[in-house]
Amino acid sequence: MSAGLDEARTRLLGARSIFVLTGSGISSESGLPTFRGVGGFWRTLRVEELASPEGFAQDPQLVWTWYNERLASHAGAEPNAGHRALAALQARHGDFTLATQNVDSLHLRAGSRDVLELHGNLREARCDLCGARRLLGAEGFPLAEIEHECGGRFRPDIVWFGESLPYDVWERAAEAASRADVVLVVGTSGLVNPAAQLVTHYPSGSAFVIEVNPEATPISRRADAALRGTAASLLPELAETPA
Ligand code: OAD
Repeated sequence: MSAGLDEARTRLLGARSIFVLTGSGISSESGLPTFRGVGGFWRTLRVEELASPEGFAQDPQLVWTWYNERLASHAGAEPNAGHRALAALQARHGDFTLATQNVDSLHLRAGSRDVLELHGNLREARCDLCGARRLLGAEGFPLAEIEHECGGRFRPDIVWFGESLPYDVWERAAEAASRADVVLVVGTSGLVNPAAQLVTHYPSGSAFVIEVNPEATPISRRADAALRGTAASLLPELAETPA
């Protein structure tokens, strides 16, 4: 039987080493859509058709238009009580690692430090040929400037489907997941690997796994406490910070 909120809170309080994995669900109460929920389509396209080298090669302007819209919505969003609770938890625990699949920078804006951004971020664009970088503002990337003078194209600094995660980021996340005695997974469907494996494969058998998600996921089977509720309502209770 799944443990409840009280036991999960006690485990977190007494943890020696905490590893946290978040997904887009933690930002949904900041007004940002998840990928696979209601509104998970953009126009009529699935995320896999946009967030891939093939999608970009086929129509770079379309892909940048999607990311530019997302950038604008990130800029208009604020971190919520869930993001803030994780930052507070980190401030209290010496051995704490936060890995996120999100590219919205809301964990950083909530005060989390050393965030492992498994899928990159939307703070920069980079040339796919020479590696030149450009900062991205809320106004997004100008569609007329996608072609770079070196012959390459500027693309978002995101890890797309079919691409490898940044090696050092992945190594640090996998090591922290293996070391942790308490693992907290928040707002992810657990459908995208290898990120989900940080929770399903890397933690030791004795690690206590807490899932915060309104719905059951493939990760729920591994969860010792499957807490059914939202990040902004449950995380402050778990971390004992005011909502
Ligand atoms: P998904 O859209 O697949 O899953 C979102 C999860 O958040 C679902 O399980 C929801 O039940 C849950 N959820 C919704 N609202 C919530 C709330 N308020 N509090 C807690 N949980 C909530 O998104 P991800 O798992 O993040 O990758 O998707 C993983 C990756 O797939 C993304 O990083 C992205 C996407 O393709 C790339 O773009 C490379």
